[in-house]
Amino acid sequence: MSNRTFTMIKPDAMKNGHAGAILDKIIKAGFRIVALKQTKLTAETAGAFYAVHKERPFYGELVEFMSSGVIIAAILEKDNAVSDFRTLIGATDPAKADEGTIRKLYAASVGENAVHGSDSDDNAKIEGSFFFSGLEQY
Ligand code: CMP
Repeated sequence: MSNRTFTMIKPDAMKNGHAGAILDKIIKAGFRIVALKQTKLTAETAGAFYAVHKERPFYGELVEFMSSGVIIAAILEKDNAVSDFRTLIGATDPAKADEGTIRKLYAASVGENAVHGSDSDDNAKIEGSFFFSGLEQY
């Protein structure tokens, strides 16, 4: 079990002005920020990041949405990071997310769901290194 996960604050939450409140919840939940940046994905880089979903019916919509505005990408550290972060953000579909979770509070739909969280330790490493070199992680 690794102690790091990877997150993005997605274009919907950035546009709606929720980035500060989301980062506050993440820090108050006990995650340490290892690396963080604001950036913007292109259709090409969003497509590569989500390549695992290439055959899914929502892939085109996902790539278009994720490249529609700036995002914040971050690597987070905490004991049990992947699992605890998924608990903090709630279910992928905000309609199914528990009260008080980030997606319940700030997400509108399964496609525009405010935040990403890695689903495994292996993917946390792959996704973190998609955005950050080793020299950018403190
Ligand atoms: P995320 O955790 O970033 O990883 C894959 C994303 O695909 C997921 O969040 C959702 O935003 C998106 N997704 C999953 N299911 C659907 C769906 N049925 N329609 C649109 N987008 C989806």
